[in-house]
This record gives sequence, C-alpha cells and structure tokens, in this order.
Amino acid sequence: MSSAPSHATGPSGTAHLPVTLPMLLEKQHLGQPLVMVTAYDYPSARAAEAAGVDLVLVGDSGAQTVLGYPSTVAVTTDELLMLARAVRRGLRSPFLVADLAFGSYEESDSQAVATAMRFVKEAGADAVKLERGNATSVARARAIVEAGIPVMGHVGLTPQTATSLGGYRAQGRTADDATRIAREALALQQAGCFSIVFEAIPAEVTEELMPLMQVPIIGIGAGPATDGQVLVFHDLLGIREGQGARFVQRYADIQRDMDHGVAAYASDVRERRYPAPEHTYSIDAEALASFRSELTQLR
Ligand code: KIV
Repeated sequence: MSSAPSHATGPSGTAHLPVTLPMLLEKQHLGQPLVMVTAYDYPSARAAEAAGVDLVLVGDSGAQTVLGYPSTVAVTTDELLMLARAVRRGLRSPFLVADLAFGSYEESDSQAVATAMRFVKEAGADAVKLERGNATSVARARAIVEAGIPVMGHVGLTPQTATSLGGYRAQGRTADDATRIAREALALQQAGCFSIVFEAIPAEVTEELMPLMQVPIIGIGAGPATDGQVLVFHDLLGIREGQGARFVQRYADIQRDMDHGVAAYASDVRERRYPAPEHTYSIDAEALASFRSELTQLR
C-alpha cells in the first residue's frame, strides 16, 4: 500500500512490517490464530495498531456503533469511506479490510468493482469484504478479485440481509441451512476470496467445514475451530448500551467510564469546581494594569 510507511512500531516498541496476504497465509499454515478487530476512526485504529492485531476491518457495523443507525442497511459508501480514511491514517501494520455497504455492489459486476476501487484508491484499503455466498455475491467477489482487489467473504449471519434471515440469529442450525452455508463458503473460496468470515454458526458446523476450507476462516460466534477471530471494537470494549450478542466477550466497560466521566465534568462545572487555578492562564501584573487602562478608553 503506497501510503503506508515501510515499517511500524508494535506494542513492545519493535518494528513490524505491514501485514501482507502471504504473511496471513503463513500464520494460518503455522496454526497461529489470526486476530481481527473492527475500527471506525483514528483512535480505534491506533488501539488496534498498538495491540499488534493482524487485520483491521472497517465494518459496516460502524453504521450502528458510531453513526447511530438502527442497522447496517442504511449506511452509504461515502459514510464508510470517511470512516475508512480515518482508520487508514491511524494504521501502519495491520492488513486493512473495508466493508462494502449494502446496495453498493449487488446490482452488477461493474458496480461492485467501481465501489471496491473507491475503497482502495480513496481510503487506502488493502481489501474489501462483502456479505453472503449466493450467486450474486459470488459473482461480485469473482469480478472484484479479477480486477485485482483481494476480497473477504462473509457467511452465516449476514447483518445486511438479517430481515430475510429472520432477524439477528444464529444460522446453520438445521442440516439444510448448514449445507447452504457450506455451499456458500466453498463457492466464495472458489471465486478467489482470500479469507471468509463465519458469523454466528454452531461450533460443530464450523468444525465440519474447516477441513474443506483452504483460505483463512475468521470466526465471530462460530466457535474455536476457525483460523482466527474477529470482534466489533465497541462490543469488546463495552462502548454500547445493552447486553450484545452471546458470543461477545467484554474486556472493558468504556461506556460506563464515559458516562461517569461526562457526568463528573457536568457536575464540576455546575458546582464551580472546574476550572480550578491549575487550568487557567495568567498575565503579568504590569500587562494587566496597562490592559485595564486601555479598557477605560473603550468604555
Ligand atoms: O461489520 C462488521 O463489523 C462485520 C464483522 C462482524 C465481521 O462484518
């Protein structure tokens, strides 16, 4: 990626090369779990960078986590591009994947390629991700790969079409549905996807599928058998109200800390505890006297 420097500093201060596709494959073959996390802005990208994760996804989940939409359906390419550019500015080492927005790739191969190109050219993404493994998504994935852009697939619970799936619920819990997911994953692999996300499917189904998959499989609510895991930044840090999905492990409670912090600030202002002397600037006595005299002229 031309805008990325040739090296980056990792959590221990050591230099890390930008992560490439061969590096991801090497880790997969060595059995080293791949770590992916979502990011939507400069600070979340810096946190991902500091943690030394392998991949960062500018997920369309940003529609909900940072833009306040009720689902991922409404978010636009321009909105995701703005998030992706901010993430790019905060990242050096991790491989950057950008989600294609619902409605920005389904219409035709040329629409899909044009949208994917925007993420590469305008935001410096290394790859794009699209949802579903039906005939349309497989064709779009193939067209984007043929245009020279790596594509990550996404099967199981695909939030862009959650309405058709009956809501935000685990998929592949019947033999027929698990077989559908297997066919979709294989078709995406065959189309040239460099990696596929498995979301919210039974761990046993994932285990049965893994021997058929050559490309790195990144799981979210798909059990421990995958080559790697992804979580939404706001879910793992507790920057949200409510419980979240069953598969989310919380590592912090940032929403509570933010609520407490802003409430404490409001209370300090109202009670005149803030600002205190240490937060204020001063002027020397002579300058102040002179200023006062100037002011008398203005009255
Ligand atoms: O948008 C997103 O955050 C995702 C992940 C859950 C994989 O697609």
